[in-house]
Amino acid sequence: MERTFVMIKPDAVARGLAGRIISRFEDAGLTIERMDMVSLTREQAGRNYAEHEGKPFYDGLIDYVTSGPVVKMVISGEGAVTICRKLIGATDPAEAAPGTIRGDLGLVLDANLAHGSDSAESAERETGIFFG
Ligand SMILES: Nc1ncnc2c1ncn2[C@@H]1O[C@H](COP(=O)(O)OP(=O)(O)O)[C@@H](O)[C@H]1O
Ligand SMILES: [Mg+2]
Repeated sequence: MERTFVMIKPDAVARGLAGRIISRFEDAGLTIERMDMVSLTREQAGRNYAEHEGKPFYDGLIDYVTSGPVVKMVISGEGAVTICRKLIGATDPAEAAPGTIRGDLGLVLDANLAHGSDSAESAERETGIFFG
């Protein structure tokens, strides 16, 4: 049993897709352990995306994830980290496979709908940032 951190980003919440996205994780057999709708501070967003600081898209990314409410979740299940990343799909929705959240519901990289931790270590770190 593994736990991961998943966030439905502001574009998806604004488009009314949160329920459908949550269902995809539930449909896969995963368990939503914790869930809350919040607006991120720039500080939280910066800590979550610290690895990207200094990259050309960094400021835009922080603006994007703080532009409106998000749904933050802790999701558990066998292989939850990898399964959630698979369900979310490739970073760029234009390249993401059909059947994935980004492939089915998105078009552009600047608004790619969801975040999922990329490893068990990231999951622990990110859960700490967002759930204390
Ligand atoms: N070239 C880019 N232009 C704009 N935004 C980007 C770019 N690369 C990444 N991002 C944004 O930064 C987030 C984090 O990037 P990354 O960790 O590479 O992807 P992932 O979210 O799939 O783990 C992406 O989900 C996306 O919102
Ligand atoms: Mg990443």
